[in-house]
Order: sequence, then C-alpha cells, then structure tokens
Amino acid sequence: MFRDSLCFDDVLMVPKYSDIPTREDVDLSSELDPWTLGNPILSSPMDSITEVDMAVSMAQHDCLGVIHRYNTLDQQLFIVNQVLSMAPNSAHCAAAVGVTGDFSERAEALVKAGVGVLCLDVAHGHHSLVKDALRQLTSQFGDDVHLMAGNVATLEGYECLVEWGADSVRVGIGGGSICTTRMVTGHGVPTFQSILDCARSSYNAPIIADGGIKTSGDCVKALAAGAGFVMLGSMLSGTTECPGSIFTIANGEKHKVYRGMASSDAQVKWRGKASAPEGVSTTVRYRGGVKHILRDLYKGIQSGLSYSGCRNIKELQENVEWIRQTSSARQESSAHILSRG
Ligand code: IMP
Repeated sequence: MFRDSLCFDDVLMVPKYSDIPTREDVDLSSELDPWTLGNPILSSPMDSITEVDMAVSMAQHDCLGVIHRYNTLDQQLFIVNQVLSMAPNSAHCAAAVGVTGDFSERAEALVKAGVGVLCLDVAHGHHSLVKDALRQLTSQFGDDVHLMAGNVATLEGYECLVEWGADSVRVGIGGGSICTTRMVTGHGVPTFQSILDCARSSYNAPIIADGGIKTSGDCVKALAAGAGFVMLGSMLSGTTECPGSIFTIANGEKHKVYRGMASSDAQVKWRGKASAPEGVSTTVRYRGGVKHILRDLYKGIQSGLSYSGCRNIKELQENVEWIRQTSSARQESSAHILSRG
C-alpha cells in the first residue's frame, strides 16, 4: 500500500502567542555530544563546500563544517591541520571517512591530528558495510570521538545506525539540490518526511536533516520536525569560503562550481573515472562571504522560533502546530508579485 509523504513545501507552522521581546532572546544551541554548538548548522562534506576556509568560518560562527573525504589521507590531513591551527577546538573540527579501503587508518590519523567528529559518509547508510565500519570505529575509539553516520531515510535505518554505534545520524536520501538518486534509482523519501519518521524513535541521537533545505524557513521546519541540526550544501554554495575559483560567465556574472559528489565531474576528479552518476555539477552565482549568509540564516531561524512563541529548539519541537498547504497556498507563501507578468 502507498503511504503519503510530505516535503518541506507541503507544510507550514501556525503562528502562536509569543512573549519573546526580540529574536535575539531565542537560543539556537544544539548538542552534539559531548559538545554544544551555538548554531544548529553544519556544512556538507563536499569538495565544492567544505575545506579549510569553510570549516574555519563555520567554527568562528559556532557552527560546524565537515571536511570532505574525496582526497588522499595526506591531503585531508593537510586541511585538518590548517583548520585546527585556526580553530583549535576539536568540537569544531569534523572530517568525513568512507566505510571501505583506508577508512580505519584515515580515521586513526584524523583523530590523532585532533578531529573531534568523524562522519561516516555514504549514500546508503542502512547497510551492512556501515554496521561493520561503525563497530570497527567504536572499538577503535570508544567514547574518544563523536561518530556521525548516514545517510538514512527511515526510522528503522536511524535506529540501526544508533544501535551500531552512531552518536548522530544524517537523515535524507535523494533530496539534495544536486542529487539525481531518485531519478537514477527510483528510491528516496522526502527529507521532511524522513525527519518526522526518525523523530518518532525513543533514541535521542541528534538527527541531522540533510538534503533539499532551500531557505531558513525549511531549517525551522526541519528543527521543529525533530532535527537537532541542518546540513547545508546549496545554501552555502557560491560563497568565498567554498573551494574553487570564481569565474565570469558570458553575461558578466561571477560564478562558482557546486557539484554533487556522485556527479561525473566529481567522480573523475577523485578516482579518475565515473560510473552510474547520481548527481549533477552546476555553477551558482558568486555570493560573497559566507558570514552574511550565516547571519541571515540564524536570524531567520530565530524569527521562526519566535513566531511559534518558543525560546529554544526543544520548546519548538514540543509546541509546533503543523498545517498542510495546498498548491495555491504554496504560491501565496512565496513573494508572488515577482511572478506577475
Ligand atoms: P543540498 O543542501 O540540497 O544542496 O544537499 C546537500 C546534500 O546532498 C549533501 O549533504 C549530501 O547528503 C547530498 N549529496 C551530495 N552530493 C550528492 C550527489 O552527488 N548525489 C546525491 N546526493 C548528494
């Protein structure tokens, strides 16, 4: 039988009575055991999003950048060491590893260098290889490091990863802005629905909402639905801190590359050949420093909590009232004068 599933754009939160004088009074902190981050925002482990500059900027804003794994161990260590000399708090240094090949020695070297969060980064996380890798890393490090793992789309997937040793779980399959997994494989679940499903668990490992988040409003919806953090690719893309050069296109606009890690371009870059791409590569308009984007983002999220009359993320999750919106309501929900002829 077919179950219904909801996307971010299918829902709205109902404004509630508020006695919060200013949005600065809203606390956005969120726990990533054993640390607390001031803002619930992570940057994606992608080679067009998170290397040194993005990781340092995220740390400076009390967010967290996850350094990608699409390089050699030496290259990844070089990035990590630069981040750690500028952001010397291991809460603020996270790096991704895979689940095959050199992942265990990579993890060992990264932790030795000072990384506090290891991210087991695979497309289909509800998988026996992830189980073996999590078991290996938990026996290797005990409680010395935070293990983030994913991605999963279901409650069962979330609970398996926690039982296998994950301290936090990336939730979302097929929703990324550069992702073609649903077209190529026919599989996936709208990220908002996956968050709602995983949040029914009695386990409390933070859910990291990942893929398809387009606005600060989507961030608020993800947090209200049960996520502890949002992970962002496209919302941070095209900024100065993203790896890659700025180039000028025919109409004079400045652009940068943003690409899926399973796109042909990315695969060729990191392993010399491409097969069965599940992502695309594109260019996005250059948007200046990420600090402006982050500032607007957390001010927007703070406003969001205050519309629900909530002073922190926990209160939002307890008090949120959802409505579904029709497609005509969705049209009204955007700045619709812009679509007038
Ligand atoms: P965005 O924020 O919607 O741009 O999505 C970013 C997320 O898409 C990342 O954090 C990954 O989970 C996911 N992702 C990255 N590269 C690919 C890909 O090539 N195919 C599918 N998903 C991807």
